Amino acid sequence: MHVVMVGGGVIGLVTAWRAAQRGMRVTVVDPAPGGGAARVAAGMLAAVTELHFGEERLLALNLASAAAYADFAAELTETTGHDIGYRACGTLAVALDADDRAHLRDLHALQQRCGLDARWLTGRECRRLEPMLAPGVRGGLRVDGDHQVDPRRLADALLAAGGGAGVTFRRARAERLLLAGDAGGRAVGVALDDGTELGGDAVVLAGGSESGRLAGVPDGVLPPVRPVKGQVLRLRMPETPGPPFLSRTVRAVVRGGQVYLVPRADGELVVGATSEELGWDTTVTAGGVYALLRDAHELVPGLTELPLVETRAGLRPCTPDNAPVLGPSALPGLQLATGHYRNGVLLTPVTGDALAASLATGVLPDAARPFSPLRFRSGDGASAAPPRQELPV
Ligand code: GLY
Repeated sequence: MHVVMVGGGVIGLVTAWRAAQRGMRVTVVDPAPGGGAARVAAGMLAAVTELHFGEERLLALNLASAAAYADFAAELTETTGHDIGYRACGTLAVALDADDRAHLRDLHALQQRCGLDARWLTGRECRRLEPMLAPGVRGGLRVDGDHQVDPRRLADALLAAGGGAGVTFRRARAERLLLAGDAGGRAVGVALDDGTELGGDAVVLAGGSESGRLAGVPDGVLPPVRPVKGQVLRLRMPETPGPPFLSRTVRAVVRGGQVYLVPRADGELVVGATSEELGWDTTVTAGGVYALLRDAHELVPGLTELPLVETRAGLRPCTPDNAPVLGPSALPGLQLATGHYRNGVLLTPVTGDALAASLATGVLPDAARPFSPLRFRSGDGASAAPPRQELPV
């Protein structure tokens, strides 16, 4: 079986690797494999602290992937020799004023209803954990299960793992889906921007925010994915002996916007992220950098002393229900692995396993079934899980 993977971001790469491990022949089509949103993302594995009202169904998938991460990281390191920067460091979500505290209390209540492990701390207790926090911190949530990984290292490791498992990389852009059969009833490959065509027994569309605009995909099959811009800063923490600048991820909602600080073991401090609906624009703006630094400075005042080493913007692939689109589409031969929105890095392990199983058997594993593309077909509510069914791959 030959699988054509459209997109070589972390989702396409993990799916390619897992499919190759199952004996499939896989070609990843991407002009720059290992690129994409993961080159910008902070890499929080924030199933608990990024829980949102109405996303409880997604929580189960997020938690499953978070639970798989330690073994996934160890397997990647053992296979490739790459350290992906997995840190079981935990997260502290804090409140800076009364409004933030009310918001955090609501989140804590939701976490408790969902049976999640999150402990309320006073401002003093927060600062005892993280002495660089602003003195005005009003309280916070300690979540010891929300960890981090370095998405750039993850992408590099997945490239190496795929290569080692026999995945072929075709450095070109997929321009159009090729169809065959009665009335074009089956996906059979893609046409590339170098003028060639690549045939396959199955095509997986894993193009991140671009997944919604591959030509040739019939109406009603194209995933409803749109880009949501995020601007992210990278700073460098001092290499001084003694306590670290920050020892865990620290985050807050400031004036309604999310800000988070993710400290890496190698001294990088990632500050993110804006959330902007501006189409395909990836400009880093003065306003975006200002807002991030202003909010991060309110949280950790000492941060303005640090060198600012990089500013970058990426596009999150967002769907109408903020959840990914996984598995067989309504078009035989076409499977989807996209729409991961805020959780692409977190959902990388579970997506690779689910899609490889689905490619091998035509059936999506139970944990991933609520995220079938068929939930967006007219007449199906976004909340209705599609019936279990065998679809040709
Ligand atoms: N998960 C973090 C973000 O999307 O900004």
